[in-house]
Amino acid sequence: MKISDSIKYIGVNDHEIDLFEGQYDVPNGMAYNSYVIIDEKIAVFDTVDARFGEEWKANLKAMLDGREPDYLIVQHMEPDHSSNINLFCDEFPKATVVASERAFIMMKQFFGRDYADRRIVIKDGDTLGLGKHTLNFIGAAMIHWPEVMMTYESSEKVLFSADGFGKFGALDVDEDWACEARRYYFGIVGKYGAQVQKLLSKASGLEIKTICPLHGPVLNEDLGYYIDLYNTWSSYGVESEGVAIAYTSVYGNTKKAVELLADELRALGCPKVALSDLARDDMSEALEDAFRYGKLVLATTTYSGDIFPFMHNFIHALAEHGYQKRTVGIIENGSWAPTAAKKMKAMLAECRDITFTDTTVTIRSAMTDANREEIKKLALELAGEYNKTESENKGVKYVCEICGYEYDEAAGDPDNGIPAGTKFEDLPEDWCCPLCGVGKENFKKEE
Ligand code: FEO
Repeated sequence: MKISDSIKYIGVNDHEIDLFEGQYDVPNGMAYNSYVIIDEKIAVFDTVDARFGEEWKANLKAMLDGREPDYLIVQHMEPDHSSNINLFCDEFPKATVVASERAFIMMKQFFGRDYADRRIVIKDGDTLGLGKHTLNFIGAAMIHWPEVMMTYESSEKVLFSADGFGKFGALDVDEDWACEARRYYFGIVGKYGAQVQKLLSKASGLEIKTICPLHGPVLNEDLGYYIDLYNTWSSYGVESEGVAIAYTSVYGNTKKAVELLADELRALGCPKVALSDLARDDMSEALEDAFRYGKLVLATTTYSGDIFPFMHNFIHALAEHGYQKRTVGIIENGSWAPTAAKKMKAMLAECRDITFTDTTVTIRSAMTDANREEIKKLALELAGEYNKTESENKGVKYVCEICGYEYDEAAGDPDNGIPAGTKFEDLPEDWCCPLCGVGKENFKKEE
């Protein structure tokens, strides 16, 4: 993969991995990206996972044309990127290692060497010239570890973004960016929204043409799309309207309740209902959905006086990842002493800006007719705004008594600057019939 005449990709794809970071299922593998800038001086950006050292070294040598690298820039010390630092330094004994102070401490901890005799310690704002290219280092602590530095190369306007803008999936698999980038973001970086916001604010002052992350594809088109998504994710904003429902069910009764809720929500015009069975589906997908949509329903059974284990783990993961600014509804099931709702609310108490629905549904073993009514009520609370928008706008028309023109609130009058959804009473006083030109007073509501 060519990034420019001087900047080359030398990373590897991993299709052997079972779980990334020991917990994330990666059905399409993983890419460990690495780059080299060829100039008067040669700089290599990060290494790759331990199992791919020889392949990476061969990729690097193929780009060097017999020259030796001058610098190894270590942006992040997590072993998926740092495991071949010693291999590099042994192969190129004249090269200097460039990293933050914290990174050198971790280097010693992980790999036993910190290169005190051949290193440059960098901090936020430092620069390093390579010839035509200049590296500008940007402190990016906690995206995703404390030692992280990103690098902006100012001549070609390239941001080397470490884990930022990364995703799951190897580069030889064609797949949607946002889906696996979102799961990666909320699983791995999600807790550090404030730090990502700070970085985005710093980056807003830079002209960026290309983003080179340590995972996932190089981004060089429509960068506003990716940056906007990162802004939404890191500010815990709602990316998509809809309701995520995460549930566990032992004998199928809680499942029937959430399926009824999902049907009711859809019938009320909810744009998306995302159901996750926490015992069977990928927990990181459920987590991603909880952050993606504006509303969440948690449904589970009381279990040993507490919450069913998968739900317990899920709520723990929500809190751990900084879940906030959402509306949450609860369905609990308990055959003799239901306490799950109380326990779930207590676990969510550490999450900021959570609003619980007025309706909490308590099922005792199997749904009753009263439960069905409660679920309808919960659906109305959750989907009220979607439903309201539809019903408010549906079929409300005003007819011109002079020429018969119909003003439809759902459609508005866009040719005359009136947006769809504008109520007749909110039309400007000087608005007039687009057909015959008479004023609003000549219109009558259609029955
Ligand atoms: Fe890709 Fe935080 O390591």
